[in-house]
Amino acid sequence: MTKILILNGGARLNGNTAGLIEAFIFGAESSGNTVTRFDLDKMDINGCKGCLCGGKDPASPCVQKDDMLKIYPVYREADVLVFAGPMYYWGITGQLKTALDRLFAVTESDPNWATPRKKTVLLMAAEGTGEANDKPVVDYYKSLTNFLGWEDLGYIIAGGNLRVGDIKGKPELEQAKKLGASIK
Ligand SMILES: Cc1cc2nc3c(=O)[nH]c(=O)nc-3n(C[C@H](O)[C@H](O)[C@H](O)COP(=O)(O)O)c2cc1C
Repeated sequence: MTKILILNGGARLNGNTAGLIEAFIFGAESSGNTVTRFDLDKMDINGCKGCLCGGKDPASPCVQKDDMLKIYPVYREADVLVFAGPMYYWGITGQLKTALDRLFAVTESDPNWATPRKKTVLLMAAEGTGEANDKPVVDYYKSLTNFLGWEDLGYIIAGGNLRVGDIKGKPELEQAKKLGASIK
């Protein structure tokens, strides 16, 4: 049984990203996986201070004591980390980036600053379509996983979706379900 952690950086909990997440979870759970989802926009998470003073207490690795304390134990145990959220200015949302930066405190808990080994997925909704629209965030995601030694299991960028409900009936929902189900 694989443990999956979803970090949702989208604010619209009935939006297009939410559709992808729900389809992914349906698939993942049907394959017997355990999924924990955090809706970051509803949480109290501050930006990384860059103090490089974290990691002293593995149970509470960051000097800032906010809702990241709920995420750290799940992150430690997770086999798969799912980055989810809409595309904002050709990147991930601020909510998602803020949480991602704060995961560094767990890396600091290791004497050699080794980032925990994870497999990753990216689920993203976007208004634009095509390779040029997707390239900046795909490059970022690939660089991130490459630098940190994470294994990409797949990414879905569902373009052509602006308003809530636009993703209904689109093939990316089925792709997200299949991607979730493929995790064993
Ligand atoms: C501040 C902001 C920036 C956005 N930037 C982009 C962008 O760079 N490229 C794009 O294709 N869509 C962009 N969009 C559109 C969203 O990605 C799109 O509406 C998406 O479906 C929202 O997902 P959600 O329903 O999960 O909130 C932007 C939307 C907002 C509000």
